[in-house]
Amino acid sequence: MVYSFYHITDVHYYSKRNFLCDWRNMPQPDTQVCIIKSEEAFKKALEIIEADQDTKTVIITGDLTNHGESYSHEEVRDILKAFTERGGNPFVYTDNHDYPYFSIYSFDENGEKIPAEHLPEDEVRQMYAPFGRDKAFDTFDDGTTYIAEILPGLYHIAMGYDTEDKDSLRSPYFSDELMAWVKEHTDRAREKGATVICSTHRPVVAPSPAYAVVGKGHSFPNGETSMKQLADMGVRLFFSGHSHIQCMKVIESENGNRIYSVQTSCLAAFPPKMRKITVDTDAGTADIRTIDIELPDLGMSFTEYSKKGFLGIIEEIPYNMEHDVEAFANTQGGVSLPKEFILKHPKTVMFLGKKLNGLTYAKVAKFSKKYHNMKKKDYEAVKDKKFVNLLLEMISNLYRGNAPYSPDTVEYKITMGSLEKIEKIMKCFRVDSKKLLGGYTLAEFIEPLLYNSGIDDDNAVVSLD
Ligand SMILES: [Fe+2]
Ligand SMILES: [Fe+2]
Repeated sequence: MVYSFYHITDVHYYSKRNFLCDWRNMPQPDTQVCIIKSEEAFKKALEIIEADQDTKTVIITGDLTNHGESYSHEEVRDILKAFTERGGNPFVYTDNHDYPYFSIYSFDENGEKIPAEHLPEDEVRQMYAPFGRDKAFDTFDDGTTYIAEILPGLYHIAMGYDTEDKDSLRSPYFSDELMAWVKEHTDRAREKGATVICSTHRPVVAPSPAYAVVGKGHSFPNGETSMKQLADMGVRLFFSGHSHIQCMKVIESENGNRIYSVQTSCLAAFPPKMRKITVDTDAGTADIRTIDIELPDLGMSFTEYSKKGFLGIIEEIPYNMEHDVEAFANTQGGVSLPKEFILKHPKTVMFLGKKLNGLTYAKVAKFSKKYHNMKKKDYEAVKDKKFVNLLLEMISNLYRGNAPYSPDTVEYKITMGSLEKIEKIMKCFRVDSKKLLGGYTLAEFIEPLLYNSGIDDDNAVVSLD
């Protein structure tokens, strides 16, 4: 059998009815998600599916709206209804951004943020039931978890999770009862010769050490164990969102069973992507393809546009440190540094900014020369490039996946060499990087931002055996 379906996640739909002002001339109000273009991105994604002759089936793994605004939910529901009426076959569920857990805002006539209406959690779940849970043949617990036959012989288990910390919704986990329920269904499916795929909103395994540390509590602390259990149950594909990171990872159980964690980025944020998956049970393969969302009239690709919105402020940081300390303080240094602290030490900030901006590849190569095997001529062609630009690119590499600097590049050698030297210096001062970085060395933490040594994050044909 050959099954094709799509994966979309983190639609972050924001209704234009939330603007009492003219949104056409507004800068994107949210630095991470292009909320003004989220409607267009969602409609474009569904258009792509509707035009596909192979399949009209899509799983959408949560964060359907930006912050759970009533208008946004109503419109997403209407769009899904129309999509279904035209032959679309969606399987959706909601998650943290769909409930009133955040400050929910709209914009007044002057473009200032004002509180917006939101819907209660129960009502939200009920709204989307026709596009997911109502099509299930079994549910677990409160119905957040459901199993549906999304195509004849292909079962999708949408898995709900519990959280250790109920207040912050951090540290998600799958309960033993849920895993037992999943096992019952995978056993039955095997008897019938059916294929089972699973999904949940949050990343079960962290997409990178940087996410595991910075986004602590967002991915499953014991996710590897859960994934191995699912692999031993015969599940080979697992889909997630939430991190807004484009990533694929393979996890192998002690019994030699493999499962692929397929994490897709946000539909309306950098990088705006969706995936098409084709499972061929005779060949025992799954072909996972990424589709970039393109929108008209932006003067650039939607990928570039969304990157500008997201990294625009961060990209100004090195310049502001050196030349405009007040602007640097207003953006809190990009990493929530206290504004007062920055304004108290303007000369130090300017000095550090100047040093940072003056760092060339040649200077970094000189600093780390004992730790790489390059001669001056090896980096002559790029010696004047600014190192700070590489640092900024590494931030975007966290999200876009497939970081491009392989171990034979100058960028890789000078960065990793410098980290090795810094690690040695830290040891002299008895500072343990592993204690600071959640068990990772500096090299382990940074390397994935330079180079993807694992499975391709966008496209791969994986074995289901
Ligand atoms: Fe999200
Ligand atoms: Fe989320």
